[in-house]
Amino acid sequence: MRDKNNSTNKLRALLDAAIDGIITIDDQGNIETFNPAAEKLFFYKSKEVIGRNIKMLIPHKWAAKHDGYIERYLKTGKKRIIGIGRDLEALRKDGTVFPIHLSVGEYAVGGIRYFVGIIHDQSARKKTENALFNSQKMEAIGQLTGGIAHDFNNLLTVITGNLELLEMQLDSDTQLDFLKEAEEAANLGAELTHRLLTFARRGVLEPVELDLNKLIKNLVQLLKRTLGANINLRTSLAKDLWVALADQGQVGSALINLAINARDAMPDGGNLVIETRNETIDSCYAEQEIGLLPGEYIRISIIDSGEGMSQKTLQKVFEPFFTTKPAGKGTGLGLSMVYGFAKQSGGHITIYSEENIGTTVSLYLPRQANDMAVKTQNRELSDSAPSVGGKETILVVEDDPRVRKLTIKRLKALGYELLSAEDGKKAKSLLKKRADIQLVFTDLVMPGGVSGYQLPEFVSRQYPSIKLLLTSGFAEELISNTELEKSRFQLLRKPYSQSSLAAAIRNALES
Ligand SMILES: Nc1ncnc2c1ncn2[C@@H]1O[C@H](COP(=O)(O)OP(=O)(O)OP(=O)(O)O)[C@@H](O)[C@H]1O
Ligand SMILES: [Mg+2]
Repeated sequence: MRDKNNSTNKLRALLDAAIDGIITIDDQGNIETFNPAAEKLFFYKSKEVIGRNIKMLIPHKWAAKHDGYIERYLKTGKKRIIGIGRDLEALRKDGTVFPIHLSVGEYAVGGIRYFVGIIHDQSARKKTENALFNSQKMEAIGQLTGGIAHDFNNLLTVITGNLELLEMQLDSDTQLDFLKEAEEAANLGAELTHRLLTFARRGVLEPVELDLNKLIKNLVQLLKRTLGANINLRTSLAKDLWVALADQGQVGSALINLAINARDAMPDGGNLVIETRNETIDSCYAEQEIGLLPGEYIRISIIDSGEGMSQKTLQKVFEPFFTTKPAGKGTGLGLSMVYGFAKQSGGHITIYSEENIGTTVSLYLPRQANDMAVKTQNRELSDSAPSVGGKETILVVEDDPRVRKLTIKRLKALGYELLSAEDGKKAKSLLKKRADIQLVFTDLVMPGGVSGYQLPEFVSRQYPSIKLLLTSGFAEELISNTELEKSRFQLLRKPYSQSSLAAAIRNALES
């Protein structure tokens, strides 16, 4: 009896301590055990699943086949997963499907066979793989496009050269008309190959020291005319902006491209903000964004209040010829060019978009190296004052589970105690229960487009001693400035580096 107790206790401890989900089922597929890690993975409490069929955890497209699998195995002994392991998908309580690795073992008790499944969450790995795959895909498309464009350019040079020679020998007007048409087409072709070469990072760049604020100020008049009266264009330019190193003409054309995209996303008019900021990218942030190296950059963001992009569109926007615009309206080369130009310049481009709310496209350009004198001074300052943390309790409110997880990780690394909520309602109930919360760090754009200001307003009214820090991927200028006197709340712009996060949190706690 004692031995039995011992082994039951041991088993309990094993199940409780396991990081991976562990589930056992009988030969009918009924769930017998469901450990705490499985509860976390599937969002079910064990009492909600015990005794029910394992099919409830399998995406519908495969669930129907599951009985067949067990039956076939019991009959034929043919192993398809048992002892082998497999990458599969699983179904959560909230209906979301996520990638897992499943390994299965079996045992028998009293003549009944049981199966034990160990479930390892693959979401994080899949995400990195996807990002890597995407960047490799872009690399491959770039190689291919570059090769074709290069050869094509040579052909076009021969064509236009010969047309020019021919022009000198023609005297009839009709013949000249034919020739002009051919020349125009060849010129359009040359323009196209030029754009493709830019995407393929084979454009001819002349990087110079650039004051991007000045460049933008000069561009604003032109943009106002191009975009039309129903687009409200504003700028938010950083003081003491670092000097950038980039091709002036290309920066201009990139900004025009981005502004026109923004206009097209706002057919009934809207707000457009061009913003500049100094950005130090630390290794922690660089890890999140494949293709961005740690270092110092000037970020130019084009922020619109347009229709935004779906997840599907977002995955493809940088591919050449990808467009959602009707034929004749867009060639799908705008973002490809900006992408290629940013990469070739040693910079980067990111897009943050939310459907029906708007889009922020950020262009990172490297800081000019001779600007370093100032840089080393700043460096010393920031190095001697490493990211400041604290012991306070912070409530993080963020609807995107990945961002929430990252934020919690980052703040824990700074020593803080963390609580989290995925929406305003959950946050309010936590605030009621926990008296130790000292700061609420909340995202402004919540699902369904509900204004995130409701929560900060609520907190500052009900709990005036609790500090607030807001975060958003959109410019504060865009998000409902009627509801709030902007100065009341501090705002941290997404994406942010670990050091800006640390500084902003400390600042808010001490304010
Ligand atoms: N600011 C934005 N808001 C919403 N969707 C956008 C935005 N910018 C780009 N897109 C989407 O990305 C697609 C690709 O953009 P891209 O600039 O590469 O090509 P395009 O604008 O369609 O054509 P082109 O720029 O060659 O005239 C667009 O068709 C649109 O669906
Ligand atoms: Mg475009």
